[in-house]
Amino acid sequence: MTTPRATVAVIGGSGLYRLFDPADSTVHTVDTPYGPVAVTVGELGGRPVAFLTRHGADHSVPPHLINYRANIWALASIGVTTILSSSAVGGVSADYPPGTLVLTDQYIDRTHGRPDTFYDRGRVQHLASADPFDPELHEIAARALDAAGETFARSGTVVVVQGPRFSTRAESLWFAAAGAHTVNMTMVPEVPLASELGIGTVNLSFVTDSDAGLAPAHDPENAVSHELVLRRLRDAQPRIIAALEVIIRALPADYAGLSIIPADAVAEVLARPVLS
Ligand code: ADE
Repeated sequence: MTTPRATVAVIGGSGLYRLFDPADSTVHTVDTPYGPVAVTVGELGGRPVAFLTRHGADHSVPPHLINYRANIWALASIGVTTILSSSAVGGVSADYPPGTLVLTDQYIDRTHGRPDTFYDRGRVQHLASADPFDPELHEIAARALDAAGETFARSGTVVVVQGPRFSTRAESLWFAAAGAHTVNMTMVPEVPLASELGIGTVNLSFVTDSDAGLAPAHDPENAVSHELVLRRLRDAQPRIIAALEVIIRALPADYAGLSIIPADAVAEVLARPVLS
């Protein structure tokens, strides 16, 4: 099979397991130093797009066991410079109720024990993370959604928790008091790993629930459960895919990616031998 090429990738989380019609897309196995990754390549928004599912097509991989390095390395190796990540999040701020689309622009990392760098051998690199999502892509996505008439939150701070359990009420209230708007289990280490390989990320989140802090005190129907998250995502699927397509159409064809880490250090990582 030929090696796929694409400059844009969508990473789908809970509830987004397929992006293309199987008849119009091809599933490739991309070998990486961290193991093989299934990448589907099809067309969305008038351009070739690579798609992978974080939790596997059968949702068998929990957030803390996702092979993030393999996923990101695989996308970098096929030429991806932009990741459009699609996430389910809980809303910990009353201003981010269920049903809100959010262009996330900051995260607070509460994960632990996840392999979260490519630079743990070879040359040491320290990633500047003040703006972890590419501000240029973020602005392009916001303008495109505005032009399409979509209602969304233009910015949002997410707390990335370890999972797989959801947060306690005390944790959830604490996140809100700290200024966070949403909570999720996967944006770290996915986003910093992408930055380490020069890939810019723009994140489109969908608020499925009110986590534990707001609910059930104010709104018991929105208290988080896995079943609720999946149901709300299933119902919102057409809106989420339409928003992804709007953003992809607006992405600049000549976007070269990030250059926070020197290109030769990235090239060294991409030259590592693969495991098949
Ligand atoms: N994903 C969707 N809702 C969530 C929540 N409340 N906590 C963590 N991850 C989530």
